[in-house]
Amino acid sequence: MIAQPSVRLFLGMIFLCVGCSHAAAQVQAQQDTIQVLVAYHSLSGNTEIMAKSVVAGAKSVPATRVLLHKVGEITADLLFGSDALVVGSPVYWSNMSGEVKTFFDRWQFEFGVFPEFKMRNKVGAAFATGGQVSSGKEVTMLTILAAMLGNQMIIVSDGGAFGASATTEGDSPGIDEKERAAARALGKRVAEVTWMIKRGQTFSAQP
Ligand SMILES: Cc1cc2nc3c(=O)[nH]c(=O)nc-3n(C[C@H](O)[C@H](O)[C@H](O)COP(=O)(O)O)c2cc1C
Repeated sequence: MIAQPSVRLFLGMIFLCVGCSHAAAQVQAQQDTIQVLVAYHSLSGNTEIMAKSVVAGAKSVPATRVLLHKVGEITADLLFGSDALVVGSPVYWSNMSGEVKTFFDRWQFEFGVFPEFKMRNKVGAAFATGGQVSSGKEVTMLTILAAMLGNQMIIVSDGGAFGASATTEGDSPGIDEKERAAARALGKRVAEVTWMIKRGQTFSAQP
């Protein structure tokens, strides 16, 4: 049976309303949550343990969606769809590992982050694990933060002056509870500051 024009108009309006409310709900959901991406490289598992603690800290902040990925798995959608990024690296020769550096280089080669500065105003933070007490953890975190600053991100720290870190060999093998707590504190602060920025965005858009 073919519907009368008035019936078709009525049905059309219902579909339109449902579509509009669905789109409005999606926008509302985006405004009501933040997404924190935790990206790491880890061969023997230490940096991964720290990454999971960063995730736990970020998740302790309400309405925070947290994604955990190895640096090699990250796509443009994951990167640009997140409000914050926390990057963790093992110390390799007193610096970030080659995999983590390659991740930052992919931002341009694969994702075309520049010249629009697509990471601008996203929150960034760093964490690191190193075998020795004083053999490059702070340089590793600072070079990660430098790459973020170069991309006009807003960097934060907690768990240590430049981020969370752990010593994993010698007298301090693996990751202890104090080091996990530092990583949780970093994740929590990243989520909290990301919320502050999200709530303040309407003001920063004004002259
Ligand atoms: C190639 C290589 C270079 C390393 N260089 C350093 C270094 O310069 N300083 C340091 O403290 N640890 C160094 N380490 C030790 C690692 O940073 C440490 O074991 C780290 O916790 C490994 O992280 P993962 O378990 O997440 O792979 C090096 C390890 C490798 C494999």
